[in-house]
Amino acid sequence: MLEKFVLRRCFSSKPSTMRAWVSENGSGIELKEVAVPVINKPGQVLLKVKAASVNPIDVDMSQGYGREFLGTWKKFATCDVQASRFPLIPGRDCTGVVEAVGGDVHNLAPGDEVMAVVPVIQPGTHAEFVVTDSKLCSKKPSNLNFEEAAALPYVASTAFSAFSVARVNQRNAKTRRVLIHGGSGGVGSMAIQLLRAWGCEKIVTTCGKDSFEMVEKLGAIPIDYASEQATQELIEHAPFEVIFDTVDSPLAKWSDNVMGVWRNCIHVSIVSPLMREMDKNGVPLGLATTAIKHFERAFQSHLRGRWFSYAFFMPSSDLMGQLSRFAEDGKIVPIVERVMQFEELEKAYEKVSQLQGRGKTVIKLN
Ligand SMILES: NC(=O)c1ccc[n+]([C@@H]2O[C@H](COP(=O)([O-])OP(=O)(O)OC[C@H]3O[C@@H](n4cnc5c(N)ncnc54)[C@H](OP(=O)(O)O)[C@@H]3O)[C@@H](O)[C@H]2O)c1
Repeated sequence: MLEKFVLRRCFSSKPSTMRAWVSENGSGIELKEVAVPVINKPGQVLLKVKAASVNPIDVDMSQGYGREFLGTWKKFATCDVQASRFPLIPGRDCTGVVEAVGGDVHNLAPGDEVMAVVPVIQPGTHAEFVVTDSKLCSKKPSNLNFEEAAALPYVASTAFSAFSVARVNQRNAKTRRVLIHGGSGGVGSMAIQLLRAWGCEKIVTTCGKDSFEMVEKLGAIPIDYASEQATQELIEHAPFEVIFDTVDSPLAKWSDNVMGVWRNCIHVSIVSPLMREMDKNGVPLGLATTAIKHFERAFQSHLRGRWFSYAFFMPSSDLMGQLSRFAEDGKIVPIVERVMQFEELEKAYEKVSQLQGRGKTVIKLN
């Protein structure tokens, strides 16, 4: 009876098991045969995965990163004190075909081609099937294939979440001067594109010299992070209202010096010690030590009317709608560095863990 209410429509007779990459206890991944996930909320959809991006966070989580915090969050979210982070299926975004929809889903139907993100406490997309909220799916842009479109949702959601913290959006981006550290990487290259799609006119980015052409094409002014003139060049482009940091380098820390003073300027970093501190010290102590580190980092800035904050990947239905439109209009283009087969995921993890991305590594499923 409950199943009838929850599950409204089903596309085909799907198998009961699937292949998925599983981390049993945080010591790497293995390819396993597991049960196909089921829709257990009326707003959810079941997707047959066609392609998924591979991100540093997937590698880290398969090695135990976030075990404490995400385990605690899952206990609260599922009201189950026994709930554990493991076994987990990594992968936070994908493109795919809708296989079945919950009773409250009216914007999608079986057979639709979509791109999607999956909240961090749910089983992920490095599998043949995945369940996610229908609001976190949007139409696959018609001009992109599955692999190209899969390079967009996770990195765009992370950049969008950081810009939400910095209060930069479609309405005010035009007048903001933004410095991005790591503009050649997966998140950084998407952050440049999102800002440009919102009309931002001044984007400066630090990156390696061999990525200059790529970031210039995206619309940013490159500065070689290894050059001795880097600080001088940053001073010449200053002041910035927003610094978006994806690398946490000494230069990124120094660049607080080129922020405006008393203008509500903000430095947002997505390289946060939070999860690692919690994994090391448990949730309460981990929160406390991160708060102390945050305070140390932010105090000098606050004295001059500037802000500092960490930001994290957050799925957003608002972003997903914008992303499909921008991609169809050609305002955002996927930068796919490499496409690998689903079966090669371990190799893909090895590559991505080096943090030398030039766009995205994507896996495809047949
Ligand atoms: N908080 C969150 O929720 C969240 C979400 C997504 C990602 N992240 C984190 O954000 C970081 C970046 O992720 P990603 O997916 O964009 O990685 P990625 O694709 O591997 O990109 C990293 C980029 O940083 C560049 N780089 C390295 N050192 C640099 C420096 N000192 N200055 C400027 N650029 C530098 C690299 O270029 P070169 O090869 O030329 O050095 C590379 O292009 C990772 O640490 C990841 O864990 C956090």
